Amino acid sequence: MKFFVDTAVIDDIRELNDYGLLDGVTTNPSLIAKSGRNFIEVISEICALVDGPVSAEVASMDYASMIKEGDYLATLADNVVIKLPLTLDGLKACRYFSQKGIKTNVTLCFSANQALLAAKAGATYISPFLGRLDDLNLDGMELIREIRAIYDNYGFATEILAASVRTANHVKEAAIAGADVATIPPGVIKGLANHVLTDKGLEQFAKDWASTGQTIL
Ligand code: E4P
Repeated sequence: MKFFVDTAVIDDIRELNDYGLLDGVTTNPSLIAKSGRNFIEVISEICALVDGPVSAEVASMDYASMIKEGDYLATLADNVVIKLPLTLDGLKACRYFSQKGIKTNVTLCFSANQALLAAKAGATYISPFLGRLDDLNLDGMELIREIRAIYDNYGFATEILAASVRTANHVKEAAIAGADVATIPPGVIKGLANHVLTDKGLEQFAKDWASTGQTIL
């Protein structure tokens, strides 16, 4: 499963990229607002930093304006992915970009039928929002399983991008359910490396090694 980081904070992206943990980046208007940065500048910087797809979301809701915004965003870098909302206009825009060979990420997906429409529109990625479904006491992971089954039934190439990931357990369950990608907040990605027994084991090894009085170099 590929890992995208879900943030517009350059320092966090750089740190994870340096660990070799990043396959791409997703942003959305809320994350851009949180960064306090200019949208175009921050997307251009992320694209230069990361050797992988970077999702930049259109702000308009009507087809004609989405096309204009997306066409402009696509000029920023070769690795820009145009993020479009799962609406009828967004699906029409998805078809337009897909026919032009520009990658798309159809976002705010909350049902298997929405995901089916996105695949038929030629989406590169579909983003089902796990956490926001869980927030409503619905089963976000079941949605991933349904989409996986439908895409496999018909051989759709659209990649399932598990989004609204909030916990390490979401990452594991999405991998088991067959998501192609997970977009994950920086803290959750780093937390995946943690285990209390790893810490405990290391502490003991360090003590025992010191007791030998040896050095390797
Ligand atoms: C990613 O593309 C989404 O915008 C993001 O994962 C949403 O996460 P949230 O529901 O935690 O805001």
